[in-house]
Amino acid sequence: LEEKINIVKAAITSHPDFPKKGVIFRDIFGALLQPAAFAALRDVLVAHARQLSPRPDAVVALDARGFLFGPLIALELGVPLVPVRKRGKLPGAVRSVQYQLEYGQDTFEMQDGSISKGQNVLIVDDLLATGGTMSAACQLVSEAGGTVLGCLVIIELAELGGRQKVPAPVTTLLEF
Ligand code: PRP
Ligand code: HPA
Repeated sequence: LEEKINIVKAAITSHPDFPKKGVIFRDIFGALLQPAAFAALRDVLVAHARQLSPRPDAVVALDARGFLFGPLIALELGVPLVPVRKRGKLPGAVRSVQYQLEYGQDTFEMQDGSISKGQNVLIVDDLLATGGTMSAACQLVSEAGGTVLGCLVIIELAELGGRQKVPAPVTTLLEF
């Protein structure tokens, strides 16, 4: 698995001064452009999910880039894939939570009934920065009566300290 993580890391490209000066943007899509890297990434994500105890009853994927990876895990585990989306995208009754971005705020929503009370949930996203996004997702799952077994992200921007903010165990494949 260590070798597979190295293949993924080598495929992630870095872009200085994007989206603004002073930020180095880590682009996960680099790993999807190379089928071997994408396959390695899938294998590592699935291996992590398979060793969780208790087993996840559902995978929650976060809008938008979490949607690329959550389904790979949910299909392998044979459990539901639950979307958390930015405001106004999900039909029917939803539960909402506001969260802080670097500048301003946004709203995440989850459909009522998509998580059942007592379910153990694995939350998946591409990247952890300040932790605001992942914390909001944890709040939605908890309010729906689920238990967050863990949060799985591919990239952690460790110097931002985001994991301290998240009220559940966070696993990251690689740090920048
Ligand atoms: C990015 C990234 C994470 C989030 C992490 O998404 O994909 O979801 O930011 O940041 P945080 O830890 O500081 O909250 P973004 O909000 O840019 O949305 P997108 O996936 O729709 O591009
Ligand atoms: N890459 C992708 N998404 C991000 C980043 C990054 O470096 N920082 C905050 N969101």
